[in-house]
Amino acid sequence: MKKILLLGSGELGKEFTISAKRLGCHVVACDSYAGAPAMQVADEFCVFSMLDEKALRNVISEHKPDLIVPEIEAIRTEVLLEVEKKGFEVIPSARAANLTMNRDRIRDVAVGLGVRTAKFSYAESAEDLRNQAQAIGFPVVIKPVMSSSGKGQSVAKTEADIPSSWEYACEGMRGDRQKVIVEEFIKFEFEITLLTIRQRNGKTIFCQPIGHVQERGDYQYSWQPQAMKPAHLQAAEAMAEKVTSDLGGAGLFGVEFFVTKDEVIFSELSPRPHDTGMVTLISQNLSEFDLHARAILGLPIPQIDTVEGASAVVLATKEGSSPTFTGLAEAMSEPSTDVRIFGKPTTRPYRRMAIALAKGPNALEKARAAAKKIAVVTA
Ligand SMILES: Nc1ncnc2c1ncn2[C@@H]1O[C@H](COP(=O)(O)OP(=O)(O)O)[C@@H](O)[C@H]1O
Ligand SMILES: [Mg+2]
Repeated sequence: MKKILLLGSGELGKEFTISAKRLGCHVVACDSYAGAPAMQVADEFCVFSMLDEKALRNVISEHKPDLIVPEIEAIRTEVLLEVEKKGFEVIPSARAANLTMNRDRIRDVAVGLGVRTAKFSYAESAEDLRNQAQAIGFPVVIKPVMSSSGKGQSVAKTEADIPSSWEYACEGMRGDRQKVIVEEFIKFEFEITLLTIRQRNGKTIFCQPIGHVQERGDYQYSWQPQAMKPAHLQAAEAMAEKVTSDLGGAGLFGVEFFVTKDEVIFSELSPRPHDTGMVTLISQNLSEFDLHARAILGLPIPQIDTVEGASAVVLATKEGSSPTFTGLAEAMSEPSTDVRIFGKPTTRPYRRMAIALAKGPNALEKARAAAKKIAVVTA
C-alpha cells in the first residue's frame, strides 16, 4: 500500500484522496486548518503551515511517505527539492512544484522553450509597473507573482489605474516577494484548460479541452469538450507536451491557454488537477483525480471516454461558519445533474463551497441553473 502525503486539503485534494483510496492508498492530508475537505476522507491529517520550512521537513520525516503530492502552490518548495535528493518522490517532480510556485519562474521556462505567451514583463514598484505597462501598451493585466485564484489580480485600462493596481496586487500577495507580472491583455475568443497526463510507462496523453469562464480571476463555470479548430488543438497539445516534459515526472497537469481567432497562447500551468477540471467528475469515465492517481501510481490509462458535461460553482456570500445549503433538492431534481459539497467549515465572500455538475445536451445551462438554486447559509 502506497503512503501519500497530500500537501493541501481543499476540494481538489478531497476528490484526489477519494480516487487514491479507491486504489488502496493510505493518505495523510495536510493543511493549515483542521477539518479541511480532504482531511474528512483521508486516513490521517496534519495541521501546519506548508510555508514553514521546519514544520514541512518534520512532517515528511515523521510520515516517510512513498509519494508527496502537492495540491496547492503555497508550499516551501525548497524543502521538496531537498527531500527529493534524499530519495523521497515528489509529484510530478520537485522542480515542477518549485517552478510553478511563482508565476515568473514557469513563465520564464515557457519562454525559454519557445512557447508563445502574451507580451509580459515584471515590476517591483509602482513606478516600475507604470513604465512596463506603458512599454507593453494598455490595457494590461497585473498579477502578483505569488498568488492564486485571482487574488491581487486587476486590469489597468490606463495609466491612472496603476497606483490602485499596484496596491491591490500588494494586498493579494503571498510570500515575501513584492513582485508582479504585467501582461498584455489578450482579447481571446475563449480560454481552455488542457488536462495533460504524463505517464510512468507510456506516452503523454490529453483530455478533451475544457472551456471556462472566469470572474475576478476565479473560475465560475466550465464545460467539456470545448470545440476548437484541429490545428489550434494540435498547437495546444504540442505546447503542453513541451512544457510538461521539461518539468518531468508523472501525473496530471492543467495547462491553460487563450485561444484567439488566429492562434493559441500559453498562459499558465498547474502540475496537479485543476479547478476547471472538476467537470471531469461527470464528463469522463475517469475524472482528472482518477487520472492523477493512476498516473502517479504507474497504472495504465488505456482510454478516456468523454461525454458533454459542465460544472458551475456555488459561492458563499459572507463570512460565517458551519455552513448549510438550501435548494439542494431543487438542484438535484433534474436528471443527469449532481452536486458536490466540499465541506469547508467556514465561509467568506466568494469562497467556493460546492459545485453543480451536469451532463448530456445543454449540460452547461443545466449546471448553471442547478448552481443558482443552491444557497449557502450561515448563522
Ligand atoms: N493576459 C491576459 N489577458 C486576458 N485575460 C487574462 C490574462 N491573464 C489572465 N487573464 C484572465 O484571468 C484569469 C486568471 O488568470 P491566471 O493567470 O490563470 O491566474 P490564476 O493563477 O489565479 O488562475 C484567466 O483565466 C483569464 O480569464
Ligand atoms: Mg489560472
